Amino acid sequence: MDEKEMEGKVKELEELYEKTISLWAKSIDGRTRYTQEHSSKVRKYAEAIGKRLYLSDDEMKVLTIASILHDIGKADVAVEILNKPGPLTDEEYRDIKTHSAKGASLLRSIDMLKSAANAVLHHHERYDGYGYPDGLKDEEIPYLARILSVADSFDAMTSERPYKPKKSIHEAIIELQDNAGTQFDPETVDAFIHVLRANPGIIG
Ligand SMILES: [Fe+2]
Ligand SMILES: [Fe+2]
Repeated sequence: MDEKEMEGKVKELEELYEKTISLWAKSIDGRTRYTQEHSSKVRKYAEAIGKRLYLSDDEMKVLTIASILHDIGKADVAVEILNKPGPLTDEEYRDIKTHSAKGASLLRSIDMLKSAANAVLHHHERYDGYGYPDGLKDEEIPYLARILSVADSFDAMTSERPYKPKKSIHEAIIELQDNAGTQFDPETVDAFIHVLRANPGIIG
């Protein structure tokens, strides 16, 4: 095989790898009526924040995997709970909360994906330390997880969910600002608001 053929093969494998991951995520999004396209939107927002924060190419690759697969652990949560329209019981909420650790341990078992495990594990931590699974706060939270948290929450705010109507972009920006320093890393919120103002077409 000459060099050109080799390059072609590598490219083909990379495309296959990317498609496989995206399909895997889509199958999770598709389990609930309200989360279609969630993973691909979180990826788009996270990548835009990452670029704005000048992450290296290697960091961007990890961020891409982590954002597409951040909710992959929901594969192991009952679909009735994921789709429940009313408020969750304590036990159901506890069950949902296991998805970040389940996702991380799944990624850790696959060589090509394990670099993204830590960001997935901590994507529901809060900047003030009241998140899960470990109650990490501010700089203790891996910065890719802080980016995921903002991207993930923004998509949740601007999408229809069974328990709430969707917010306008303007309302979602205000909510991000109001929760910067408590739920969210303020620097990440600033970066994302800059992206949204400079490129409102990114939404949706
Ligand atoms: Fe999640
Ligand atoms: Fe999510």
